[in-house]
This record gives sequence, C-alpha cells and structure tokens, in this order.
Amino acid sequence: MTEMKAGSCAVVIVAAGSGQRLGHGVPKARVPLGGEALLVHAVRGVLKSGIAAQICVAIPAGDEELTAMCGKLGAEAATAGLAFSVVEGGAQRSDSVYAALAKVAEGVTTVMIHDAARPLVPSGVFNRIAAALKDGAKAVIPALAVSDTVKTVVPANLPATGAGLEKVVGTPARNQLRAVQTPQGFELATLRRAYAHALTLDDEAASRITDDAMLVEALGEDVYVVQGSTHSFKITTPMDLLLAEAMLEGPLRPRWIEG
Ligand code: CTP
Ligand code: MG
Repeated sequence: MTEMKAGSCAVVIVAAGSGQRLGHGVPKARVPLGGEALLVHAVRGVLKSGIAAQICVAIPAGDEELTAMCGKLGAEAATAGLAFSVVEGGAQRSDSVYAALAKVAEGVTTVMIHDAARPLVPSGVFNRIAAALKDGAKAVIPALAVSDTVKTVVPANLPATGAGLEKVVGTPARNQLRAVQTPQGFELATLRRAYAHALTLDDEAASRITDDAMLVEALGEDVYVVQGSTHSFKITTPMDLLLAEAMLEGPLRPRWIEG
C-alpha cells in the first residue's frame, strides 16, 4: 500500500450507485453535466480544493466506462501529486464507503466521505471541514439551515374513507434543524471504529443509518457542523440536473457568489 506523509487527508468518493431516481439508464456517476461526467466534476472539486493527498473512488462492479474514466482521473490526480485508488462498491452506499476505506493509505489520519452525486461543492466547504479537523474535531459535517417547516408523521386513515393519509405527531423547532451534505470529515481511526460498530447492528437499525456521521454519533462522539453551500446539492432527480446545468451555464453566476 502507498505511504503518505503523516497527517494526510484522503477523500473517499462513492460513485457506485445506479441512479434509479435520475432515470438516465446509466450509473449516475457517468451522467454528463456540462459535457463532463458527474464523477469528473467531483474529483476535480477535490483536486481544486488542495486538501487531499489521496482520492479513493468506489464504482459499480464491472463498469468498464467508469474504470476507463478513473484511469484518466488517476493520471490527473498524479500530476497534482495525489494518489488515486479505485474499488468496486457494494449494494448499499455504506458498503461502498467501507470498501473504499480499505484502500486508504498508511500515514493518512483524516478522511472525507463524499458523494459523486454532488458535483459542484465549492473549495470553501472542503477547507472549512479540513480546518475543523485540524482543530481537533473527530467528525465534521457541512450543513444548511432548512427553509421549510418539517413535520414528524405517522400513517393514519380518516374513518369515513379509510384513505391512506398521514397524521402529524410533532414539529421540531426549525431553528435547530440542519440539512446535511457531503463531504463529511472524520478522524480516520474514529470512522473506522464507527464502521466496525455498524457491522454489529441488526438490519432494522442499519436501515435507519442515512449518513456516515450517524455512525459516529452512535459511538457517542461529538459531531461538529460547519457551513455548507447551496452549490453542494445532490443530483437525485432530473430537476436537480437541470439546476446544475443552469448553474454551469452561468446566467445566475454574477448574482450568486457563495463559497
Ligand atoms: N452510492 C454508492 N454505492 C451504493 C449506493 C450509492 O457508492 N450502493 C453512492 C452514489 O453513487 C452517490 C451517493 O452514494 O454518489 C449518494 O447516493 P444516491 O444519491 O442515492 O445515488 P444512487 O444510489 O446512485 O441513486 P438512487 O438512490 O436514485 O438509485
Ligand atoms: Mg441511492
């Protein structure tokens, strides 16, 4: 295994999902945005930030196009002085993260876990996370305040119709809610411990885990929050892709300056 300067940071980019909701018929990481695949944007975002010594990408098993794309991206990374590794992802996002973590080089002490599906993350976000990790945080996530009011609901029927509705059981205070993005940054040893603990969860508990930070929370460790970015949104549906294209084309750009 490659050896890094002690204290280095690695970025894991998970790109092994199928992109069902985008409905492009190809794995989402390969979907073009402004003429380049989402994975290319995600990798270049990491290179541009300058925070990493290594990038580990998880791609779908047997995907020859993404394998070839990673060959080229590996060469770009090498030119910038970064190590680059590729692994086969797994059935769940967490399986893909776990597979990629196995490739993290000796000497790396912090890791950021990032989605290929978030192609436009500004350098400022990577830098804020790196700074908090340097200041001793063991887990740091970027987040935004939510603009919608959020309700907790349970299934409920109206007696007259029996129609399948839902009923509100609570309204969390909005000023305490945050919408969480990636990259999420961790002390490597803490994240490895969190993933080891996750292996002991039953299926029900595992299905409730929706981000990496939750695994660290389950260990009782503090998870710190830094300012995210509206540019960091995840491409999930065709509408998201439209917005990302519009952002790249730039009519909004002069009016939209955010780090
Ligand atoms: N991911 C992964 N391995 C999986 C599932 C997801 O590496 N088994 C990655 C995706 O490639 C994506 C990120 O995790 O970069 C966030 O997942 P999501 O947006 O849900 O992407 P997909 O799972 O590809 O999309 P969908 O759920 O619509 O099929
Ligand atoms: Mg998914």
